[in-house]
Amino acid sequence: MPTVYLGTIAHLTADPFVEPNALEIIEYGALWVDEKGKIIEYGKRSDILPKALEASIEDFKNAWIIPGLIDGHIHFPQYYATAAYGGQLLDWLVQSILPAETALANPAFAHDAAYRFVKHLLSCGTTTALVFGSQFHHANVSLFEAAKEYGLRLIAGATLMDRRGEGIPDSLLQTTQQALADAETLISFCRNEPLLHYAITPRYALSCTDGMMQMCAGLLHDYPETYLQTHINENRGEIEAITGHFKQHKDYLDVYDHYGLVTNRTVLAHNIHANDREMAHIAEAGCAVCHCPSSNLYLGSGLFPLTRHIKYGINIVLGTDIGAGTSFSIWRNLSDTYKIQQLQRLSLDAPHLLYLATLGGAKALRLDHETGNFATSKSADFFVLNPLEDNYLGERLSHCDSLKQRLFCLMHLASERHIEATFVGGRRVYGM
Ligand code: GUN
Ligand code: ZN
Repeated sequence: MPTVYLGTIAHLTADPFVEPNALEIIEYGALWVDEKGKIIEYGKRSDILPKALEASIEDFKNAWIIPGLIDGHIHFPQYYATAAYGGQLLDWLVQSILPAETALANPAFAHDAAYRFVKHLLSCGTTTALVFGSQFHHANVSLFEAAKEYGLRLIAGATLMDRRGEGIPDSLLQTTQQALADAETLISFCRNEPLLHYAITPRYALSCTDGMMQMCAGLLHDYPETYLQTHINENRGEIEAITGHFKQHKDYLDVYDHYGLVTNRTVLAHNIHANDREMAHIAEAGCAVCHCPSSNLYLGSGLFPLTRHIKYGINIVLGTDIGAGTSFSIWRNLSDTYKIQQLQRLSLDAPHLLYLATLGGAKALRLDHETGNFATSKSADFFVLNPLEDNYLGERLSHCDSLKQRLFCLMHLASERHIEATFVGGRRVYGM
């Protein structure tokens, strides 16, 4: 049966970096969804309700109905490794992260972690996530199964490492052959699942041999529906290590380019310290870049140059980058996004911030035909934000002059605690 969801609707109808009036907020709004979970129409309840006579009604009263959040970078095997003390990227990886990732060698532990991970993302209003998977195939099988069962739109793949290095536990290293076989198994699993996609995931240039990089390029070529995700230009020490190791290459991007991994299916995480050549080439190739604000602050990686990316026309998605990020909530990352740009004299308002977390992220992940806003025939992916039970937040919002101001306040003051429900494809996946 079709359903009409009632609440205050907020979404982007276009890119606010191009179209100034792209934010649409409808108080006493209605979102009309068919029995297959596709959006029929949205608008004022007084316009929708008389047309939707057959529909059942779900009344969220004055709560906000917002498109599902898109997390463009998160590490599943770091689910229990957030808030690990000390050091910048390379030290932190060796001291805290790689040891934590070995725990997923235990299938029962990995299975439990996968289900908790997916459930937790849905509770944060995340409806689409691009995920660095485990090095252990059984863990990734559990991850895809959990996403299928709980209804998360998931793009993921095994985090690939086959280069021996100081501090890398042997148990995390794969062989090229096994990695290929495991990837093909999961790629075929995804084929029958509309919400699931595979991402070829060489961890970063230092973690993979020539052979592994070539295997990745082969997969990307043979399975054009797959994505490729990796890290780039995150930290000065990392860049020195990469350019020191790959002396014959022009820069960090050139290492990936050499193997044919710089494509319009590629999502590059971080890209804080790129040179002009890299920026131009990322734009020309049509790669997306994932900005991970909380992680960049936590690891002291640097200030993401958003204006520079916009000038080059590069599509941006936001990422929590758990375990370097300290929140699983993309919504809470909006406040850090704002502050990082404030330090660079750019003041992002509510439309721009919401765009990055929803429609912009969907576009960067090439899923904007499916999700990101409430356009007709898109999948009904949304979450319900209900701040009114919170005493202070309720009071603060009552002192706002406009709905747009309220939305901006919520971006700084609301969190996953205020999420009442999450829906993917019209299915309630959180807040039973
Ligand atoms: N670069 C290589 N691996 C990682 C990782 O796990 N997290 C982050 N933030 N950067 C990386
Ligand atoms: Zn990362």
